Amino acid sequence: MAISYKKNQLSSVLLDWYDRNGRILPWRTDPTPYHVWLSEIMLQQTRVEAVRDYYARFLAALPTIESLAKADEDLCTKLWQGLGYYSRVRNLRRAAQQIMEEHGGDMPQTSRELQKLSGIGPYTAAAIASICFDERIPAIDGNLLRVFSRMTGYDQDIKSNAAKSAAREFYDEIFPQKRCGDFNQALMDLGACVCLPNGAPLCDECPWADHCSAKADGTCQQLPVTLPKAARAVEHKTVFLIYYQGGLVLRRRPDEGLLAGLYEYPNAEGTLNDTEISAYLSNLGFSAIQARPLLEAKHIFSHKEWHMTGWEILADEWEDFTPGKPKGHELFLASASDLRDIYSIPSAFAKYTAQVRANYLDE
Ligand code: ADE
Repeated sequence: MAISYKKNQLSSVLLDWYDRNGRILPWRTDPTPYHVWLSEIMLQQTRVEAVRDYYARFLAALPTIESLAKADEDLCTKLWQGLGYYSRVRNLRRAAQQIMEEHGGDMPQTSRELQKLSGIGPYTAAAIASICFDERIPAIDGNLLRVFSRMTGYDQDIKSNAAKSAAREFYDEIFPQKRCGDFNQALMDLGACVCLPNGAPLCDECPWADHCSAKADGTCQQLPVTLPKAARAVEHKTVFLIYYQGGLVLRRRPDEGLLAGLYEYPNAEGTLNDTEISAYLSNLGFSAIQARPLLEAKHIFSHKEWHMTGWEILADEWEDFTPGKPKGHELFLASASDLRDIYSIPSAFAKYTAQVRANYLDE
């Protein structure tokens, strides 16, 4: 059913609602471009409540774009540890360097310019440009797509480009001329707190309920339409916690791809049997070992699953062991304090990290 509404009526109703009901969030209290940018990157794939502490800790350590540009990469990763999707923090640091080198330390002010920075796509650029510089542009994410789909009764695949174009058209019609950042954030709050994704939305609390096509048609639960996802690929791995001379053996992951540049416990593809484990360790130069099986663990990424078996290894000998700082992607020995303070192990290995903590870090 087509719903009629006056364009500016919709925006003023929502802005009034936001003035009364908008969430009080740290990045809204002091919305400098750096603060808004950092919060938007942290909020991609992560819930507001989970972001709060990370946001405060990150800014306490790196309070300015300049400090981020100059920061050590391992420190940035450490501050991000637990948020996941680590390429986000690598891009953040790279973009800070671009801002220092190409923009004299000031954040560009238009969505078009912002999109030239590492890690800033159309959504993030629109959020920063509208919130900090009042650009009239919708920040189209899952929340805005859901609200659009229900308001208009849009019933095609919401992930498609056609849906994004239709949403842009809808928002372009109703977007106010001023308070553009507030309007985007009001839509985010409406989507996150009222027009809920799973289960029934809270239409009684919705300022747009009288203008909503899905509410009128009783189709809120069917909209937006999402196509079934492809099944995730399963990868089996054998993970080794190798202790040698009081240290733990780590390595840096490849610079590209999943969990790029983070540190990990040595691990092999597949579920290795006893003979394969001996061959694997001996290939890495370890001998005179004692081995103890650990619990199995599973980690689910957006597109794949790791099913892991773990082994704790005490090695008395390590051929070619060279003490000192890690080089490239070779195995190296980490002390307990370096493990705590410098090297970020992704949460995919959380079960094994808990084991390391219990045995080694004494926490
Ligand atoms: N999600 C993404 N950006 C947000 C913002 N600025 N406020 C609340 N939720 C958000």
